[in-house]
Amino acid sequence: MNESMIAEQQPQSNPGVQALDFSAWMQQRLARTEDALSRWVGVNAPAGLGEAMRYAVLDGGKRLRPLLVWAASEAVGGQEAATLRAGCAVELIHAYSLVHDDMPCMDNDVLRRGKPTVHVQFGEASALLAGDALQALAFELLLPENEGVPCSMQARLCRLLGAAAGSQGMAGGQAIDLASVGKQLSESQLREMHRLKTGALLQGSVLMGAACNAQTDARALQALTEYGQALGVAFQVVDDILDVVADSATLGKTAGKDAANDKPTYVSLLGLERARGHAEELRQQAHAALAGSGLPDTQALAALADMVVQRTH
Ligand code: IPE
Ligand code: IPE
Ligand code: MG
Ligand code: MG
Ligand code: MG
Repeated sequence: MNESMIAEQQPQSNPGVQALDFSAWMQQRLARTEDALSRWVGVNAPAGLGEAMRYAVLDGGKRLRPLLVWAASEAVGGQEAATLRAGCAVELIHAYSLVHDDMPCMDNDVLRRGKPTVHVQFGEASALLAGDALQALAFELLLPENEGVPCSMQARLCRLLGAAAGSQGMAGGQAIDLASVGKQLSESQLREMHRLKTGALLQGSVLMGAACNAQTDARALQALTEYGQALGVAFQVVDDILDVVADSATLGKTAGKDAANDKPTYVSLLGLERARGHAEELRQQAHAALAGSGLPDTQALAALADMVVQRTH
């Protein structure tokens, strides 16, 4: 993540709370996440599977989903061991979704995170299996023994991740995406596709962070649900915009693929300027939700919403 992605610090709204150094905050959480992923992913897997898994996950990616888990968990005073595992688990589901999304049967992409895609590097069968194994590992990570994470919290985290990844979440959204090639969707159909294929896992990250404290109250949960939904859709609107305006070297993935694959996007539906305006509206909705959360310190969550909309890759 480069400096241009680091949003300006939020004005301090709660006088009792110290202003956040967001850049330092982010670097610390990224380092912990990176270290844990490199210890947990693909270790001792047979027949080259571990290599493909590690290639898919390590050395790349903005790690936005783990950062959302950390920010939400810290906003509610969540348990640290659960937070680290939840952040890694959601990143593994995301990485698996990218491996499969890039395969010839889906978007047929050759570049991801600045490297050849997993199926290009290791073959299609290995890419399929690496995705499968990453998904399984995500749930295994959520169920540790001897780390003091209560069973009820483990179960809740698994439920949230399963719901975000499955047919009512990412996988369902990907099905709509594939079924929509060459079609014009209405704005509400497009929003539903984006809410599921991308928004669900981002909102799920926020809710998993909130679930790292079993006592998080209903008002905060409702506000974080709304924040996660707005941020999640904003993220995919910006992804659609960047596919048009950015170059492949900056993105680390092939630019212009949505038009080439005849995918309906916010840019194809609304045009560039209205798509940008919509992303900004969603950013403001995310901020408004935080303002009504009753949580004492939501600075990191606010800065992440800014980063999602202002990012350049
Ligand atoms: C890309 O996600 C795929 C979408 C869900 C739009 P990211 O832009 O978060 O990808 P990485 O993890 O930083 O590579
Ligand atoms: C990807 O959407 C969503 C998931 C991987 C679930 P895209 O197909 O737009 O993502 P990119 O642009 O390839 O990263
Ligand atoms: Mg896709
Ligand atoms: Mg794609
Ligand atoms: Mg895209």
